[in-house]
Amino acid sequence: MNYSDVYKGWQQDPEGFWLDAAKAIDWVKAPTKALDDANAPLYEWFTDTEVNTCYNAVDRHVVAGNGDRTAIIYDSPITDTKSKISYAELQTKVALLAGAMAAKGITKGDRVIIYMPMVPEALVAMLACSRIGAIHSVVFGGFASNELAVRIDDAKPKMILAASCGLEPNRVVAYKPLIDGAIDLSDHKPDSVFIFQREQCPASLIEGRDYDWNDVQNGVTPADCVPVNGNHPAYILYTSGTTGAPKGVVRATAGHLVALNWTMKNLYNVNPGDVFWAASDVGWVVGHSYICYGPLIHGNTTIVFEGKPIGTPDAGTFWRVINEHNVRSFFTAPTAFRAIKREDPKGEFKKKYDLSCLNALYLAGERADPDTIHWAQDLLGVPVVDHWWQTETGFAIAGNPLGIEALPIKVGSPSVAMPGYDVQILDEGGNQMKPGELGAIAIKLPLPPGTLPTLWNAEDRFKKSYLNTFPGYYETGDAGMIDEDGYLYIMARTDDVINVAGHRLSTGAMEEVLANHPDVAECAVIGVADQLKGQMPVGFLCLTKGVNRPHDEIVKECVKMMRDQIGPVAAFKLAVVVDRLPKTRSGKILRATMVKIADSETYKLPATIDDPAILDEIKDALQTIGYAK
Ligand code: COA
Ligand code: AMP
Repeated sequence: MNYSDVYKGWQQDPEGFWLDAAKAIDWVKAPTKALDDANAPLYEWFTDTEVNTCYNAVDRHVVAGNGDRTAIIYDSPITDTKSKISYAELQTKVALLAGAMAAKGITKGDRVIIYMPMVPEALVAMLACSRIGAIHSVVFGGFASNELAVRIDDAKPKMILAASCGLEPNRVVAYKPLIDGAIDLSDHKPDSVFIFQREQCPASLIEGRDYDWNDVQNGVTPADCVPVNGNHPAYILYTSGTTGAPKGVVRATAGHLVALNWTMKNLYNVNPGDVFWAASDVGWVVGHSYICYGPLIHGNTTIVFEGKPIGTPDAGTFWRVINEHNVRSFFTAPTAFRAIKREDPKGEFKKKYDLSCLNALYLAGERADPDTIHWAQDLLGVPVVDHWWQTETGFAIAGNPLGIEALPIKVGSPSVAMPGYDVQILDEGGNQMKPGELGAIAIKLPLPPGTLPTLWNAEDRFKKSYLNTFPGYYETGDAGMIDEDGYLYIMARTDDVINVAGHRLSTGAMEEVLANHPDVAECAVIGVADQLKGQMPVGFLCLTKGVNRPHDEIVKECVKMMRDQIGPVAAFKLAVVVDRLPKTRSGKILRATMVKIADSETYKLPATIDDPAILDEIKDALQTIGYAK
């Protein structure tokens, strides 16, 4: 079968396609139907099933006689540690942790927040939740207390599973004070916190609330897998939207299992037993789908890598890991390759390693620029597959399905729509546009299994964010085009979301932080082009009348506020003070024009602009920080 046959097969019989894919999952109660459209335009999948995610990711491989196979390789250049966990060992670890959680009262449907760095225990924590039907919400370690508190108040977790610290190359990040701070800030209070103590920074525990990860498991009864309904949420993952409040993307259990398992062979071209490596973080969707669940459901070996592409210790780390652990498919963000290229443009480090085990490199999370793709292709000599997806979808919307057919690569395009996705380009009126024309990228409903059925406790926001603009479609928030051959091109976001080093951030959330500075009367944050990180946030501050403190001081305070309130991951380091912001006559800040000025691109003077002279002031201000040349 080639790609076109597979895609057409899905178009002609979506129900049959997904029921067939569902055969690879071990069900407690197997599906008799795939799509449930009873609440259209809210769709669900496999609602008549019962199943357990952890059973499919762990136990079934042991039952099938593959207990000795390595499930997780932990490679931490930061701590100089390497270790392996077999599927049988993983089963024991997960069942014990789940047992300890159950002993503290966690049952099906309870929420559990996980705040952990890249250690195998993070995966054990996720799997322990799914073993007993608890709904986890992993929060990325680079977020500050305030962001954690917002998620605690929205998800209302009964428990937090955390490590005492995370390790960045230049510092130890003590997690416990961040957790304590978040619990102080939040209205909702979790009953218990399990702390995985790391020797780099052990945490002190609060009697009656906090428990040592290992001690609390002593003598507990290992927990069995609890069957849940197919539409039971496997997890909630918060992601940035237009406003400051993050969106709680819900992932339903059965569709998640079916879709991820399908992608492992068809898109990533790995067979059970092969080593698959996604160099991301468990706090992001890539970490959920392709560090934890996808590879384990499919019986692969996954790698938990605690390090960075450069500096841990050098720009050859990725090649060492690929070589040492026999990685067959490798997935990371383009920014990681840009970082390596900057440090080692000739690829000298690669010469030290035999990378013949590697079959393909997959890039996602942000636009893959042609320079980076060419460089990676020349260096590695394997197909470099750009693929496009979102936290909301959980797996690729478009890609090059190497396990079905290696399609010709068009650099600059994440290739073609995956089965399950009818991707269309629409104009403002919702009309389909012609090949080559730029418009909003929308997906005809229903979205496939594995994608979000709704937002946690926010059905109206779900409809407003994704379904209302183009009735009958899911609005992706990306703009782009499709060429004559059906290849997609992703050009820009249509909302206020920016992408900094593959991390999705909301400029709206950043503006809320700046607006809280006592001297700031009005502000705007935009994402400007950055050679390494793709985009970088830049703040514009209009000061309250009468404030005449040095601007440097105010900017420094704003940078600190952003780090304290959103977290270091926001990478907010640049801000300028301006007198006024450019606006339309109706008062809308012209952010898109400001971005064009910053990136030294030509722009049309917006017809509705209130006072064009302000644009010159913006340009002057940007020049003081090295932009708008
Ligand atoms: N916990 C605490 N802090 C964190 C963190 C975490 N888990 N992750 C990042 N940070 C901090 C960093 O220490 C840094 O802090 P600093 O301002 O004190 O230096 C800040 O957040 C920005 O981090 P990062 O985006 O990692 O930038 P960097 O300059 O340290 O490194 C790259 C640049 C390109 C090497 C790095 O961004 C990278 O590896 N990117 C790949 C991204 C990726 O995998 N994305 C996942 C999507 S697939
Ligand atoms: P996230 O939800 O963090 O995965 O971010 C999703 C967003 O990242 C998408 O909506 C795009 O804007 C961007 N993105 C992800 N993958 C790609 C890609 N391959 N090419 C261009 N943009 C991408």
